[in-house]
Amino acid sequence: VRIYVPKDACSIACGADEVAAAIEAAALSRRQPIEIVRNGSRGMLWLEPMIEVVTPEGRIAYGPVAEEDVEGLFAAGFLTGGDHALRIGKPEEHPFLAKQTRLTFARCGIIDPASYADYRAHGGYKGLERALALGPAEIIEEVKKSGLRGRGGAGFPTAIKWKTVADAKADRKYIVCNADEGDSGTFADRMIMEGDPFELIEGMTIAGIAVGATKGFVYTRSEYPHAIWAMEKAIEVARAHGMLGVNIAGSQYSFDMEVRMGAGAYVCGEETALLDSLEGKRGVVRAKPPLPAHKGLFQKPTVINNVLSLTAVPHILADGGEFYANFGMGRSRGTMPIQIAGNVKFGGLFETAFGITLGELINDIGGGTASGRPVKAAQVGGPLGAYVPTWQFDLPFDYEAFAAKDALIGHGGIVVFDETTDLAKMARFAMEFCSVESCGKCTPCRIGSTRGVELMDRIMAGQRVEANLATLTDLCQTMKLGSLCALGGFTPYPVLSALNHFPEDFGAPPRHLEAAE
Ligand code: NAI
Ligand code: SF4
Repeated sequence: VRIYVPKDACSIACGADEVAAAIEAAALSRRQPIEIVRNGSRGMLWLEPMIEVVTPEGRIAYGPVAEEDVEGLFAAGFLTGGDHALRIGKPEEHPFLAKQTRLTFARCGIIDPASYADYRAHGGYKGLERALALGPAEIIEEVKKSGLRGRGGAGFPTAIKWKTVADAKADRKYIVCNADEGDSGTFADRMIMEGDPFELIEGMTIAGIAVGATKGFVYTRSEYPHAIWAMEKAIEVARAHGMLGVNIAGSQYSFDMEVRMGAGAYVCGEETALLDSLEGKRGVVRAKPPLPAHKGLFQKPTVINNVLSLTAVPHILADGGEFYANFGMGRSRGTMPIQIAGNVKFGGLFETAFGITLGELINDIGGGTASGRPVKAAQVGGPLGAYVPTWQFDLPFDYEAFAAKDALIGHGGIVVFDETTDLAKMARFAMEFCSVESCGKCTPCRIGSTRGVELMDRIMAGQRVEANLATLTDLCQTMKLGSLCALGGFTPYPVLSALNHFPEDFGAPPRHLEAAE
């Protein structure tokens, strides 16, 4: 009997290793032959560790399983899908999964992340095979047709970035994967590296062929040891199967890659600071231009893409750019792996086409708050994202729709807050975060964030509230317009959104008119 027990960081934190050991011991004592496969997570995080047993009717899930549940599961005959209080049934029929459109996460939680054969059996490397047949120019054309935009947060068209690097003349070019997932409430990069690492390898290989790069780096953080382990293992296996190295898959193209670990500074997720860190320097933001596409890693033309951009690519190549572009709305094409977190009942990974509203995500899919109290706001797009109030929950998940409301979808992380949250304290946290994480290169961010924290402390202490609020608003404008990178430039978003939507938390009169909109 084959049993899947997840091995991603979330499940391990919830006791998956202990559950796997308990299952093994219980089976041994019963002389019951079993095979435990350590898979990635399906993304229903409130059910982790969620184990799955392969039965003649398909995979049957149980969760959340604790070590002490294992004896009871055996007694209930879970090896043949027996009934038990923790029985979930077929995972793909669970509403949280059934409502999704999974492309990037199609295999995550299903396959053995270390198995090349499993990856192949589930459609892996079909995109690379087609890419090899098409050649560089047509690969880029296919990505252009898909409408894919950078999933790291900025939403820049991937095909334009690739074309810029492809057209650059140089003796060496690089593919760098930004896996330095630092946003609060985000975990999609980690999950895919832990659950389907070959997909990232395939995406980076296709990018390498498209732009003429022979070397790739995955830059991730030391806080992601399980992702690093899974990636390194998969790279080794891919090499052994001739899918990395010289003449990949017997073709004329060569591409190899390695994983590099940073120390987890938030600013090292900014692409130029990341490049400095990758080069062995302190992660400090570089002025742009030159763009990394012209002068990136070691001053060579470099594609830097987020994990989710690169892992969308194998599907775009396998099924065609038009297929991918059929999902979504407006200029936001394809699917987005959305991460629902914070004070929410059903948190997890929800991949769906752009266009779903924030309200649907938080109330219908997320089930509202875990505390059971009314939702007050959600921060979307990480610590630099705006606080969206409930009266704007009809906002569709779309780059332009969010931008029109002075908000951003960023890397697709949603953190939910209930009515007990003090938004003034949250806004202060955003400023403090900026002052702690600032690389110090430019004045609006380095000095501005520190002065911002001081101003907020005065406002929250009730000192000259109106005058200090005016100064804070002015300071935010300076940071927004004068900062060199998104860290200082985007910190005003959470601060101003909190101030605009919840002035009463700052000791100012409430904005009844806006609230009634
Ligand atoms: P950006 O708009 O400056 O650039 C976006 C990308 O397009 C960059 O890779 C840039 O090099 C490239 N690019 C721009 N013009 C180009 C051209 N003409 N040709 C070729 N390439 C070109 O945005 P930036 O500063 O890179 O990212 C800001 C975003 O990062 C924010 O929206 C925020 O949401 C997100 N972010 C994500 C985090 C995460 O954990 N994933 C953490 C912090 C911020
Ligand atoms: Fe560095 Fe902040 Fe300026 Fe970005 S905005 S370059 S993090 S000081």
